[in-house]
Amino acid sequence: MSTNFFTLVENQISQVEVLMKAQVNGHHPHLQVVLEHLVSSGGKRVRPAVALLTGGMLNADDDRLLKLAGSIEMLHTATLVHDDLIDGSLLRRGIPTLNAQWSPAATVLAGDYIFARAAAMAAQTDSIEVMQLFAETLATIVNGEIIQMFTSRGIASREDYFQRIYAKTASMFVLATESAALLSGVDEAVVVAVRQYGYEIGMAFQIVDDILDFTGSQSTVGKPVASDLRQGLVTLPAIYYQESHPDDEDMAAVLRGEYNHDTRMTRLVAAIRESGAIKKALDEAREFVERGLQTLENIPDSIERQALFEIGSYIVDRDV
Ligand code: IPE
Ligand code: IPE
Ligand code: MG
Ligand code: MG
Repeated sequence: MSTNFFTLVENQISQVEVLMKAQVNGHHPHLQVVLEHLVSSGGKRVRPAVALLTGGMLNADDDRLLKLAGSIEMLHTATLVHDDLIDGSLLRRGIPTLNAQWSPAATVLAGDYIFARAAAMAAQTDSIEVMQLFAETLATIVNGEIIQMFTSRGIASREDYFQRIYAKTASMFVLATESAALLSGVDEAVVVAVRQYGYEIGMAFQIVDDILDFTGSQSTVGKPVASDLRQGLVTLPAIYYQESHPDDEDMAAVLRGEYNHDTRMTRLVAAIRESGAIKKALDEAREFVERGLQTLENIPDSIERQALFEIGSYIVDRDV
């Protein structure tokens, strides 16, 4: 990643990757192979970068911060393993997912194992508060997935959407920033500020992910596109489209639970792509980022703080 803020934490990210791969010593060789494979498959490393920069800005202890960053990327990795199984996705980061190669049972177990190792790394921060927040975040994510599975299909409501993306994505960005602040022993006001920053950029991150699901191509994004709507999941671009095209028959069909119709879906996805809904969603993401940056205003300037500002533009301008 050539962006400046990544350069600033490049070395630390490499150390985080070493820590992650070292988590399977002594366990079954298959687990070793899986973890090696997952960690080596890349990923943007946005969450550990955010944790490292926040901790760097607030003078957290280097060693504990690395453990924190590792535990968060491990948590993220575990959620992806289970998410791809749940979604039936066969491709991620341009390569076959674990569930494309292993049975569902083995995939579940591998995900569980990674969750466990993530928790162990969180414990290595020596902070009960961080461990509590880690556990709470995992509960929030799982609860969000359950809500999505049982009640969110076919719902075109912004409120429902924002709750969903908080649970599945923004909560992990909050974990990254808040935990880094907790490791730094700063005033409560600073904890609240970086927590808010994590929330806002996390929300923006998921909105852009949902936009890319419409506008991206599989070769750039590395995972199948337009998959959300095809599963009945109505994300922000689709919500805006529905608001401006209340009479669209195909959209109405999705909301009734009929989203298995291929030609209709192809037409609908194209219509959403070409409508103003994409730009509107992107503007909304920019507003989240804007609010996120404002929360850092009272924190003394530093290169890390600058980098946290840059992450804001990266999030909304990215195409991967
Ligand atoms: C994918 O996250 C899941 C979402 C919450 C959107 P990323 O887009 O950060 O995935 P990687 O780690 O870079 O592959
Ligand atoms: C994945 O959400 C995030 C979690 C499971 C926490 P998505 O299903 O939107 O992510 P992608 O699109 O598969 O990366
Ligand atoms: Mg998915
Ligand atoms: Mg998605």
